[in-house]
Formats: sequence, C-alpha cells, structure tokens
Amino acid sequence: MVNTNNTTEIQNSKTGKTIRESEGETTLVMLPSDANPLGNVFGGIILKHVDLIAGLVAKRHAGHANIVTASMDSMTFAKPVYIGNALILKARINYVKRSSMEVEVNIEAEDLNKSQKVLTGTAYVTLVALDEKGKPIEVPKLILQNIEEEERFLEGENRMQTRLKNREIKKRQKEN
Ligand SMILES: CC(C)(COP(=O)(O)OP(=O)(O)OC[C@H]1O[C@@H](n2cnc3c(N)ncnc32)[C@H](O)[C@@H]1OP(=O)(O)O)[C@@H](O)C(=O)NCCC(=O)NCCS
Repeated sequence: MVNTNNTTEIQNSKTGKTIRESEGETTLVMLPSDANPLGNVFGGIILKHVDLIAGLVAKRHAGHANIVTASMDSMTFAKPVYIGNALILKARINYVKRSSMEVEVNIEAEDLNKSQKVLTGTAYVTLVALDEKGKPIEVPKLILQNIEEEERFLEGENRMQTRLKNREIKKRQKEN
C-alpha cells in the first residue's frame, strides 16, 4: 500500500471493484478486408477493436451506465500486424477518477505459423460513464490489491492530470 497518497487510500474503499473483475482479452484473426494491398493491417482497424474492448472493460466496471470514449492518448504502432496474424488485445483498468476511467490496452500480433507474439503497442483510453440524460455519473472505486496495481494507479493518475491540463490549454486556445 502506498501510504503517502490519499487518493490511493480512498480507492481501497470496500464499495469498489477490483481490476480483475473487469479485465478483458480478445483474439481476432486479421482478414484481407482489414489490410492494405501489401498485407499490413490498417491502424484504424486496430483502434476500432481497442475502443471496443476498452468500452467493454469500462462497462464491466461501471455497471448500469452508458459508456463513451472521451479520449485516446496518442499511440505508436511499433511492429506491423499482417493478414493472417492473430490480433490479441489485453485490457484492464488502471485508474478511476469520478465518472472517468483509464483503460490500458496492450496490443499483440501473433504469427500463427511461427507461434511468435510481438507487442505492437499500448493504448490508453479514457472512458466516461453517463446516466440516461447524458450526465457524467460516479463509478465504483478501484480496489487495489497489490503494489503493482497501486503503481499503475498512480501512473494513470499522472497521465490523467496531463490529459486534463492539455484539454484546458486547448479550450483556452479556442476561446482566444
Ligand atoms: C466525454 C464527455 C461526456 C465529457 O463531457 P463534459 O461536459 O466535458 O463533462 P465534464 O467536464 O463533467 O467531464 C466528465 C468527466 O470526463 C472527464 N473528461 C472530459 N474530457 C476528457 C478528456 N478529453 N480526457 C480525459 N478525461 C476527460 C472529466 O475529467 C470528468 O471526469 P471525472 O468525472 O472523473 O472527474 C463529452 O465530451 C462527450 O460526450 N463527448 C463525446 C463522447 C463520444 O461521443 N465519444 C465517441 C463515441 S463513444
């Protein structure tokens, strides 16, 4: 337990949910319709599946709420994904604020002929829970169960602060 951080203490409240309760994994075989003529899968196809699994994880955590994607951090595709590869997405919540949740999605490509997997990239998606009227609503706190989860939580909190600062800067630029 990281005792120096009040937020972490609050997030260990018994009213919350564990990270394990909402985490998800999906495996999809990439088809010719997912790729360019040379066989590289489009980034947009991968992002669509990233958005879908991040939404599923956030919905599992939030329960009865409408889930929308507020932002996706900029990301790099470090390794290609080809037609015939298995695209493996592993998603979990790192951080919960009030209505917003940061979901991390690790993207792997598996060459099924060689049984080799490579990490293609990591996406950080922020999703927000809304009520029937479209108003942001509070979601369960995260129950952090070990030091790794606490560290991920604090890293998520730092990234969220940066996101929200950037959002403010963009808002002010628009107003000027
Ligand atoms: C996301 C959305 C609900 C935020 O609405 P808003 O009027 O800015 O509401 P608020 O300022 O009260 O923000 C609500 C929460 O979202 C968070 N948020 C808003 N914009 C964000 C951004 N760009 N990045 C990260 N978090 C963001 C806020 O920090 C707040 O979190 P908290 O409740 O945990 O403190 C609104 O911008 C929206 O509906 N966007 C469209 C979503 C969408 O259609 N996505 C694609 C299809 S799913």
